[in-house]
Amino acid sequence: MTTILLTGATGYIASHTWLALGAAGCQVVGLDDFSNSSPAVLQRLQALLGGEQPVFEQGSVTDAAFVESVFQRHRIDAVVHFAAFKAVGESTAKPLSYYANNIGGLLTVCEAMRRHGCHRFVFSSSATVYGKPEALPITEQARLQATNPYGQTKLIGEQILADLGAAEPHWQTGVLRYFNPVGAHASGQIGEDPRGIPNNLMPYVAQVAVGKRARLQVFGNDYDTPDGTGVRDYIHVTDLAEGHVAALRRLLETPGSFTVNLGTGRGYSVLELVRAYEAASGRPVPYDIAPRRPGDIDACYADPALAQSLLGWTAQHDLARMCEDSWRWQRMNPHGFET
Ligand code: WQD
Repeated sequence: MTTILLTGATGYIASHTWLALGAAGCQVVGLDDFSNSSPAVLQRLQALLGGEQPVFEQGSVTDAAFVESVFQRHRIDAVVHFAAFKAVGESTAKPLSYYANNIGGLLTVCEAMRRHGCHRFVFSSSATVYGKPEALPITEQARLQATNPYGQTKLIGEQILADLGAAEPHWQTGVLRYFNPVGAHASGQIGEDPRGIPNNLMPYVAQVAVGKRARLQVFGNDYDTPDGTGVRDYIHVTDLAEGHVAALRRLLETPGSFTVNLGTGRGYSVLELVRAYEAASGRPVPYDIAPRRPGDIDACYADPALAQSLLGWTAQHDLARMCEDSWRWQRMNPHGFET
């Protein structure tokens, strides 16, 4: 049986990927320091995995001795590296902690892999590496331009993996550039659980719909888009998880490395998402038009053709399903994972 190490395993995308890998017949070893997730996720995963006790290691990817001990305890065939800080605004305020954690953690994991002859690596990257796109839809050949420290850590991470592969061709890396992950597992048992005020649109809209927050602030309606509000490529987190399974399958079955966009290829505006959420929840989502948020771009959506041709993967869920699954999670877990 193929054993996959998931770093950042109790986080939003990783926990959904854990389930998808289990369903695909992989043995998963989860690793997390709970710096941005809850131990309660493990109990939820155990129920969703049919009662099987999750194999889990608590610690930081920046702790070399701990990471080494994980590779000594488990025979790892491939690594999916999610563990990273991911808030754009926070990264601007705390660049050193972002570089230490995101780059330091990546280097520590890759060095341990190298010592243990493990050379298949899936890297959680982001459409943020494209900055303000010159053309839409965005292909993997588009200009790369990080506009914040978080995006820089993703760009540098991709460069580290490219240099590693050039130096040691037996390394196989799959770089996955996520667009805007949203939604939740259809069971309503796991989902996005932001701490404090959500930075991202859908979790904020969900909290307005459930009555936890009064009104949504729409950051600008004077963008160069059909209704003036920002357009993004929202992708269901379950589709994203399946994209990781497809990426690992390719790394295990076919020589070589790749970089692909994981998006739907369809952009939706803020107001379109608000209307879709109201339809899915049956609840009003009142909003005000507020000033633009610094650093935001007009529109961003993927050309997903390469992931289809290379991985045989295409997103399956539409915006209505993304909102329905998000709403079920929000309604069933008004306080997230903390009971
Ligand atoms: C979406 C749209 C906002 C909140 C970010 C990161 C990116 C990735 C995904 C990690 C924009 C508008 C938002 C609100 C609003 N994260 N908005 N009111 O900025 O596209 O991407 O998250 O990889 O790296 O940059 O996502 O959900 O924050 O914003 O009007 O309260 O919603 O202006 O147009 P974004 P978002």
